[in-house]
Amino acid sequence: MHIGTPLSPSATKVMLLGSGELGKEVIIALQKLGVEVIAVDRYANAPGMQVAHRSHVIDMTDPAALRALVELERPHLIVPEIEAIATSELMEIEADGLATVIPNARATHLTMNREGIRRLAAEELSLPTSSYQFASSLNEMRAAVDAIGLPCLIKPVMSSSGKGQSFVHDATEIDAAWECAASSSRVNQGRVIVEGFVDFEYEITLLTVRALGPSGKIETFFCDPIGHIQKNGDYIESWQPQPMRPLALKRARDIAQKITNNLGGRGLFGVELFVKGDEVWFSEVSPRPHDTGLVTLASQRFSEFELHARAILMLPIDATLREPAASAVIYGGMEETGIAFKGLEQALAIPRADLRLFGKPESFARRRMGVALAAGASPDEARSRARLAASLVKPVKE
Ligand SMILES: Nc1ncnc2c1ncn2[C@@H]1O[C@H](COP(=O)(O)OP(=O)(O)OP(=O)(O)O)[C@@H](O)[C@H]1O
Ligand SMILES: [Mg+2]
Repeated sequence: MHIGTPLSPSATKVMLLGSGELGKEVIIALQKLGVEVIAVDRYANAPGMQVAHRSHVIDMTDPAALRALVELERPHLIVPEIEAIATSELMEIEADGLATVIPNARATHLTMNREGIRRLAAEELSLPTSSYQFASSLNEMRAAVDAIGLPCLIKPVMSSSGKGQSFVHDATEIDAAWECAASSSRVNQGRVIVEGFVDFEYEITLLTVRALGPSGKIETFFCDPIGHIQKNGDYIESWQPQPMRPLALKRARDIAQKITNNLGGRGLFGVELFVKGDEVWFSEVSPRPHDTGLVTLASQRFSEFELHARAILMLPIDATLREPAASAVIYGGMEETGIAFKGLEQALAIPRADLRLFGKPESFARRRMGVALAAGASPDEARSRARLAASLVKPVKE
């Protein structure tokens, strides 16, 4: 792999589909390596657009708009940052040899739909998962809940960040769960997965990288496990490393290896797993950097974003942990455009603390606007520092 000069005929061009806070860090990593970067999102001034060579605002779920932009820009690599993309058009683009999709078009297509990835994991690869059934109507869903048992989770097959999900404890909540799923599903309105509740001890993200290895071929590398706390489908805190029993760690890596081997291609994957004692369940996988992995900006020699950049450019990687660290999310807390942040002096006075403010043009009460990071002698020390730093940052109206 060689890298050319940006903005010249030799440029190595990468197009990010989705340019939020995760894309922004991937773009910064690519910029450091002299790559020409084109940021794409559905709204102007998205975080990644602010650090790219140029940007475009399109509806990425519109196949014609997506193809027209790829034909205009002719990127070498297309790097999806989000799920809501016309992935069947990515399959066409890949088949026509227009660009290389990261990790590949099939992986982006399978993982955007819970049915595709769940059937692959449980039925083809025999990985342990929660019990589950799919349903396309309220009646089918009632039967599925009967079969799976209570409590259970109901999720639209196409949704992310907890949208449209319900935790159903008793039969009186079933109708509302159906409404909730149908009204917030992206596409495929009204198809849901009913999942048995897994009473896990803790959950992890196992960042798994398919990158050029010493053998000269694509090999699999694992980061240390990331522990996290989820609330309403959003992560609020993450830390690395999450201590694990040796057998559980081995099982987690085996599962991650199997699923990422099958998905193929190159780049970093976020494999979500539930753990209890030595038992491990596969939950889902993102074929891209994971939000809980923001912690790696403070904990690893190379962050998940740098690892992704190197892996997709066919460059060697180093996934080692440097020291324990943690991240804590900063929410907007209000519906407003062009907000400001106070308390930065206090937050950054905390030992080993750092901040990322994403620069999102519009704030919502529950929108992630920034993250506090902190290192420490232990994950617990790092967690309390990151939490404190996040709590000191106050979004205000300008
Ligand atoms: N079957 C289950 N049993 C117990 N807890 C679950 C189950 N499914 C989901 N959860 C909890 O809900 C969280 C969100 O679930 P899931 O990852 O499927 O949703 P999502 O919309 O894809 O969220 P994200 O996009 O943030 O990953 C999980 O991290 C876990 O804490
Ligand atoms: Mg998830």
